[in-house]
Amino acid sequence: MSLKFGTKDVTPPVVLAPMAGITNVAFRRLCREQGGGVYVCEMITTRALVERIPKTLKMIAFADDEDFRSLQLYGVDPAVTAAAVRMIADEGLADHIDLNFGCPVPKVTRRGGGSALPWRRKLFGRIVREAVAAAAPAGIPLTIKMRKGIDDDHLTYVEAGLIAQDAGVTAVALHARTAEQRYSGQADWEAIATLKQALDVPVLGNGDIWEASDALRMTALTGCDGVVVGRGCLGRPWLFADLEAAFTDPSYEPRLPTLGEVAAIMSRHAHLLVEALEDEKHGCADFRKHVAWYLKGFPVGGELRRSLAMIRSLTELDDLLAKLDPALPFPREALGQPRGRVNAPGKVSLPYGWLDSRDDDTVPEGAEMENSGG
Ligand SMILES: Cc1cc2nc3c(=O)[nH]c(=O)nc-3n(C[C@H](O)[C@H](O)[C@H](O)COP(=O)(O)O)c2cc1C
Repeated sequence: MSLKFGTKDVTPPVVLAPMAGITNVAFRRLCREQGGGVYVCEMITTRALVERIPKTLKMIAFADDEDFRSLQLYGVDPAVTAAAVRMIADEGLADHIDLNFGCPVPKVTRRGGGSALPWRRKLFGRIVREAVAAAAPAGIPLTIKMRKGIDDDHLTYVEAGLIAQDAGVTAVALHARTAEQRYSGQADWEAIATLKQALDVPVLGNGDIWEASDALRMTALTGCDGVVVGRGCLGRPWLFADLEAAFTDPSYEPRLPTLGEVAAIMSRHAHLLVEALEDEKHGCADFRKHVAWYLKGFPVGGELRRSLAMIRSLTELDDLLAKLDPALPFPREALGQPRGRVNAPGKVSLPYGWLDSRDDDTVPEGAEMENSGG
């Protein structure tokens, strides 16, 4: 299996899914140290980038050793999106750009952004075409990431995939859920197979890869050219080592870390966050959300768990981690289990009349969020 993003050989054919609030420079390093692939940064809004909002410029800082800097953009305006891509190209800010058409958050879809946008196919086509044109002179590969559609009665993924392909994208990633599903239920891998049948450009499958074996199953079932892995690596950055090994040798059996090994990775994660945020308090606060994911299924008492989820300093973290039993084996029952967001489905809020006119290509007003990564 081989996947190329421009001149980059994506080996193994694995992409760390962009996750707002998670895939910052620290988490990417932790994952990159485990295996090959493409590691996408947190979502950046095109307007915040072109307006050079300081917080956004900080968010697109890549590590010196990130040799394939992958950046996800969220935009709803073809002109602003093109300006953001031109800025990235002219200033050499990234080596790969992904466009986000999958965000299901009500404050985004209510204004016609994210997963609501492909329904307006002309506007969608304009955004993708202008972005590809702006990226091309610098040889930057451009991909898109989308959902199946708004809901089961308003599916867009095959048509959007064809539009994106015509526009010249390098690959198309499908999170095989509708916006209405949010993160509930099971991803519909058959939709990934359908998209693969319909397109000539590489298709990346996304949704519910919890173990390396799931990635192999998804590629076998759907014929997809690569996989995008999100929640499965929360609290388990070593999943990328498993993925690399499994794509090399499908009979590979994952090596499960002991609690001592997990504690060492937790400590490293927190140290990297503090280094990246240049502030111990903020780094520790950011780390707290990862604690429950790392400890999922381990028999660790409630009090220690709670204390770990409230750490304020690295010394406090390391002291608490030292209280864990390092020999405890990894809980097999936690394997293959969902982690992270699993929220219930919800009706998709859309702008008035959004569903009635697919070919209206007016730029939706106010759909650009000011904050990146939100
Ligand atoms: C905390 C969190 C933040 C996310 N942020 C983004 C984002 O900024 N851009 C995006 O395209 N998808 C985002 N996603 C969706 C993931 O990239 C991915 O499509 C989704 O989680 C399904 O893949 P999974 O089943 O492997 O988790 C986010 C998901 C989570 C859980």
